[in-house]
Amino acid sequence: MTVPAEAPGALRPLQPADTGDAVVVVDQRWLPHELRHATLSSAQEVFAAIRDMVVRGAPLIGATAAFGLALQLRSDAGDAALEQGVRHLRGARPTAVNLAWALERMQRRLRPLPAAARAAAAWAEALAIAEEDVLVNHAIGRHGLPLLQAAAARRAGVVNVLTHCNAGALATCGWGTATAPIYLAHAAGLPLHVWVDETRPRNQGAALTAWELGRAGVPHTVVSDNAGGHLMRQGLVDLVLVGCDRVAANGDVCNKVGTYLKALAARDNGVPFHVAMPTSTLDRSLPDGGAIPVEQRSAREQTHVWGRDGEGRVVEVQVVPDGSVAANPAFDVTPARLVTSLITEHGLVAAEARALAALTEGRA
Ligand code: MRU
Repeated sequence: MTVPAEAPGALRPLQPADTGDAVVVVDQRWLPHELRHATLSSAQEVFAAIRDMVVRGAPLIGATAAFGLALQLRSDAGDAALEQGVRHLRGARPTAVNLAWALERMQRRLRPLPAAARAAAAWAEALAIAEEDVLVNHAIGRHGLPLLQAAAARRAGVVNVLTHCNAGALATCGWGTATAPIYLAHAAGLPLHVWVDETRPRNQGAALTAWELGRAGVPHTVVSDNAGGHLMRQGLVDLVLVGCDRVAANGDVCNKVGTYLKALAARDNGVPFHVAMPTSTLDRSLPDGGAIPVEQRSAREQTHVWGRDGEGRVVEVQVVPDGSVAANPAFDVTPARLVTSLITEHGLVAAEARALAALTEGRA
């Protein structure tokens, strides 16, 4: 199966330099107002780009970290440098397991090699991780498409999908996870419309998902995070489709904070709640979602927002009274019992231990 290079969602937020000495990424902090790029030439720059949200989204931070390790090994590819590089990059963000997954894959590939062969092999492995991610997402799209087609048949009209955060092309190396079925459905002419949760505090929905859906010509409406329950009660949501940052062995799903509330509202209203999950996001070492480390981010993301002012300048403004204390848990856990299905590159999988074990053991 070849992936069409210029499908909607073919946006590539990470471009490895042909020279093998840098990666060029979209600096997502400026979207949707400016399309800026950043060149990352060292592991330190990659670490900072992940920590500071220049790049974000579970699969993308994994792939970017892989290139970071490859860059590090250009100057020192000894055992100590390899172990230190993996440890360092792993610490950039705690929740999305794709970061550890990509670095562990790199480590497995590189450890047995002589130091002199490691830098070239590391670059090749990072390229493979990035290329496979695009194929995996496209496969998630193919497996998710029938869900949208079935919803269209039931409704006999425009299918309304609700999504939270950005699990789009910008969060991956291409296509996105939750957006891949949407892009394929749109390309196939299926009439659909996406409710885009704004996703406070950083507004990844309003800023990123709306931007990329707009580029691809997918009809969408940005709503406040609190609108989902109301829309579902009105019969205006046919299915919820979100991404994930880590899925535990029992099928509990960790994703951007606010996802859990959408799942509760979906259950109360009989709306299917599907999670797009590349198997690189499955962490069977954790028995349930309670063990997933939830990133606590800066309170400033809560007390301030970024936007474009009337003169076209991108500025930050304060939205709380001086002195108010704010907390910012960046993710939450949706219990497996609220998840209708996990859409993986291998097909739809139930959010339960036995099905997930079969998936990783190749028995799905
Ligand atoms: O804090 P972020 O922007 O990195 O959070 C991203 C999400 O929560 C996404 O939904 C998740 O990574 C899935 S990306 C395909």
